[in-house]
Amino acid sequence: MQIGDNHHLYIGGCDAVELAKSYGTPLIVYDEKLIRTTIQAFHEVFRRAGVPYQISYASKAFCTMAMCQLVYQEGCGIDVVSGGELYTALESGVPASAIHLHGNNKTPDELGFAVDVGIGAIIVDNFFEIALLQDIAAKSNRIVDVLIRVAPGVEAHTHEFIATGGQDSKFGFDLASDQAHMALRQLADAENLRCVGLHSHIGSQIFDVDGFVVAVERLADLYQYGVRELDLPLTVLNVGGGFGIRYTDEDAPPVAETLSAIIAATRQTFEARELDFPTLWIEPGRSIAGPAGTTLYQIGSQKRIPGIRNYLAVDGGMTDNPRLALYGAKYHAVYANRADAEPEDTWSVAGKCCESGDMLIWDAELPNPKPDDILAVFATGAYNYSMASHYNRIPKPAVVFARDGVATVVVERETWSDLIRKDRRLADL
Ligand code: LLP
Repeated sequence: MQIGDNHHLYIGGCDAVELAKSYGTPLIVYDEKLIRTTIQAFHEVFRRAGVPYQISYASKAFCTMAMCQLVYQEGCGIDVVSGGELYTALESGVPASAIHLHGNNKTPDELGFAVDVGIGAIIVDNFFEIALLQDIAAKSNRIVDVLIRVAPGVEAHTHEFIATGGQDSKFGFDLASDQAHMALRQLADAENLRCVGLHSHIGSQIFDVDGFVVAVERLADLYQYGVRELDLPLTVLNVGGGFGIRYTDEDAPPVAETLSAIIAATRQTFEARELDFPTLWIEPGRSIAGPAGTTLYQIGSQKRIPGIRNYLAVDGGMTDNPRLALYGAKYHAVYANRADAEPEDTWSVAGKCCESGDMLIWDAELPNPKPDDILAVFATGAYNYSMASHYNRIPKPAVVFARDGVATVVVERETWSDLIRKDRRLADL
């Protein structure tokens, strides 16, 4: 946290209080340099290990044109999971060849769009999709590079709603029951699909490296089967994303160590099978976007319930950050206008939506609020704006990138009239 002589919080060299004044609240502010240095640190681990790799930013964490431009400029490809994300990435100027399409139920329109624009790869999720995609690719007379998504049966140590790699999952081909082998056999026969790799994603906000290592070992067996038995042109091992970040002091993210352990496990398992080292793909979303984002809110109403709890409400809430309501997520916050003030009491930060679960932080240690206070909630860069809703007809906040003291609006604040833009009045009322 950067604090100026005026005791204000600074983000990307910009005074957060001034940002709130200029652009209004709630406001999501990204430290642009932090996004860049985070990506550079990922590159550095691979470069030092001297292995072929590709970093694909999981845009679901925060998908806007500016973000796509930025991560592409830093040498990342882009992962998309819908036609909307694909459209955003393409409109931002990222070439289709640098984009990969994921999803457990890609529609024929989405697959057709991806094939037509010449997408870099499609991560095939199920048998239904193999048939559909083969058909679409054949009709457009294209050969499409695909990876298969494997559910390796690994339980990542994370919240159950965001664990995706276990056997009982809607994602991917089950490894234990040989469905993944069968998928490879089908792909070997699919004339318009070229299976270039294997993929697994075992969950999100993971701190424990063991799950990744087990996944790599299991995928290596399948990889060997694909290369040796089926003669598939496999070159890619994609271990997904999921690297945990620091939301509060309880979290200690070992991203570089985790990556190094994944590289070492890949080296060991592939050497043991006398396979060439594959191109290792990762798909980080949260770890790239999350730490760089801070949400600024204007403090509003307060309420003390003697002996029970103090509530402090802000001018946003679950509409811009549903993560506490969904996952019981924890956040750290300060007042941006007195960022080094000592805590005086415990304040639970509530949003302004009409439901009790609309909370941002339970029992935060904070100074007693004053009317001008601007609350800054840290690490809100991933899965906040991208999961924002219009519940209670609350417009979505503005987003700015701050760098070297200059702020640039990358998403404009929505207005009330934006909210009714797609509404149609009944003619006879
Ligand atoms: N690759 C695949 C196939 C994924 O499903 C995901 C995330 C990622 C990569 C990126 O994972 P990350 O590096 O961001 O952890 N809304 C939840 C997170 C859902 C993650 C879904 N998949 C949250 O707010 O915590």
